Amino acid sequence: MKRNQWILGLFICIFSAFVFQSCSDDDDDAEEIATNATFANFESWTLIATETGPSDKLGAAHGGETTAVRKIYSKGDEARGNDGYPVGTVIVKHTDFADATDDVYHGMVKRGNDFDSSRGDWEYFILDASGAILSDADGALRGDSSFKACGGCHNSASGTDFIFTTN
Ligand code: HEC
Repeated sequence: MKRNQWILGLFICIFSAFVFQSCSDDDDDAEEIATNATFANFESWTLIATETGPSDKLGAAHGGETTAVRKIYSKGDEARGNDGYPVGTVIVKHTDFADATDDVYHGMVKRGNDFDSSRGDWEYFILDASGAILSDADGALRGDSSFKACGGCHNSASGTDFIFTTN
């Protein structure tokens, strides 16, 4: 009887490993929960693109249709595979206006772990010039694709894992 229970337990564990990936501690469980340190020194990362001028995908947002220079940095310069970017991918966009006080810093982190499973599990951030996560009265400026309508545009890049600037 005990042996049968043990076999049943093993079976349930293997079954749930398939369903929930909970019996193994492999990369599928990986989750990247960003802190301020995640974005520190982003200007020393790989500069994957420098954009200027109008973009039909950007409209007037993010410094489009202005003289702002939009610099996109990748922390690890990860490549996009068949399953998209790996968990832990960190990308920062610095929108550099003529007047530095207008500059805007946006971040995206591949958080994983079903954080936003139909939208690539990306977390979106608004940062300060040092890469620290900004906050307002409602808390830290971070969230899934519904945060500040970030997904309103980025969802249209679903074919490239929600990232426009493909390296
Ligand atoms: C109006 C459309 C639009 C909205 C809204 C938008 N983005 Fe973007 N975003 C873009 C476009 C287009 C690019 C490509 C680079 C460029 O042309 O400036 C981009 C690039 C980025 C990048 C660099 C990676 C990439 O996809 O190329 C990050 C990081 C980013 N956006 C974060 C954010 C965050 C955070 C928000 C919400 C606070 C947001 N975006 C809202 C259109 C948008």
